[in-house]
Amino acid sequence: MSSTTSIPVANRVHNFTYAIRNIVAEARAVERRGLKVDYLNIGDPIPFGFKTPPALVEVVARAMTDGANNYVPSPGITPAREAVATEWSQRGFPVDPDRVLITAGTSEGIELALTALANPGDGVLVPMPTYPLYTAVLAKIGADAAYYRTDPGRGWLPDVDHLESLITPRTRALVLIDPNNPTGAVYPESVRRQLLRVADSHGLVILADEVYGDLAYDGAVPPLGSLDPDGPIVAFSSLSKAYLAPGWRTGWLAVGRSPRLDDLLAAMKKLADGRLCSPGPMQYAVAPALNGDRSHQVAFRAALAERGRITATMLNAIPGMRCVAPKATFYALPMVTLPPGRTDEDYVLALLRQTGILCVHGSGFGVAPDAGSFRIVFLAAPQELQKIYGDIGAFTAEYLRTA
Ligand SMILES: Cc1ncc(COP(=O)(O)O)c(C=O)c1O
Repeated sequence: MSSTTSIPVANRVHNFTYAIRNIVAEARAVERRGLKVDYLNIGDPIPFGFKTPPALVEVVARAMTDGANNYVPSPGITPAREAVATEWSQRGFPVDPDRVLITAGTSEGIELALTALANPGDGVLVPMPTYPLYTAVLAKIGADAAYYRTDPGRGWLPDVDHLESLITPRTRALVLIDPNNPTGAVYPESVRRQLLRVADSHGLVILADEVYGDLAYDGAVPPLGSLDPDGPIVAFSSLSKAYLAPGWRTGWLAVGRSPRLDDLLAAMKKLADGRLCSPGPMQYAVAPALNGDRSHQVAFRAALAERGRITATMLNAIPGMRCVAPKATFYALPMVTLPPGRTDEDYVLALLRQTGILCVHGSGFGVAPDAGSFRIVFLAAPQELQKIYGDIGAFTAEYLRTA
């Protein structure tokens, strides 16, 4: 007879959380009760009707039918690495193809960089709110996240003095997400320069998450590295957002030309060897994406700008709610003034159970639970968004009245 005792799992799993996916379990339960759920929890444009550029789909399909189904070199195929290097160099961040790695999305790049940089007990500065993969990976490798404040009163810009006050001899890196998920903020050049100065003077690497760099409503944001080509910068991006191919898991990282970064580059390449390569056929789309027609981005940005305006206008009209207008991305992080004793998760779960609208509580991104923040993904069509925000308004009025 076999034992019924559960097989224990490693302790590190208990510290690993990813609210964006975790909350889906509750949404499924709501669906089983017969309520339709609006999934505004995950930043994927495809389910909302946005299309991967057909030319890129063709390239990948052709790669597969032509037999490119082999393992490719672990840092990526040469044309993809060259295209990434050219793209960043032309935008003012000079990068050599040998300092580019093609990764399974930005996500794998983030994991490689943090794993190569931080020992257990080391610290990494992450924004509050943050994209939760950073804190999840840090939990897995036993390193500590030090949250620096970003201020909703100043358009969610980083509080540089607070950030600097958190630096200790064990701090290794500074994570910068610009344009930002979950707030939709874009940092002005003055703030970017301040952050570069802080990192440089404390010997920190900047992990520049530029996955939304092409999705600012006023046009693409210059790479951070263009402000300081010799700075200690590792930059990340992917095909997921600006090229509308999140399921392909195809991204890249680029290591700045400073020799200070040579050991880090070698360490990331060594770790990347262990996974053989990132998905092969999709890598053939990188050069055509970066060198080809980008007209889809113009239309996508305009669609996002319109949805961002509707989001800020309608949410700010709800009594007890305020929302900083996003300047990029498809996210906003409104805040509701909660009754004493209530958390953002209480609010988000009640909203889900009553209306079927699924958002993610701000504490899933590192914000204090009593701040009442929650993230909305506003990729749905404008008319649908108007209906959703109407429902959120009615629900919130009732929630605040009866709580
Ligand atoms: C700030 C940020 N970084 C990284 C990622 C991961 O993206 P990818 O699909 O390129 O792995 C996301 C996805 O939402 C994100 O918002």
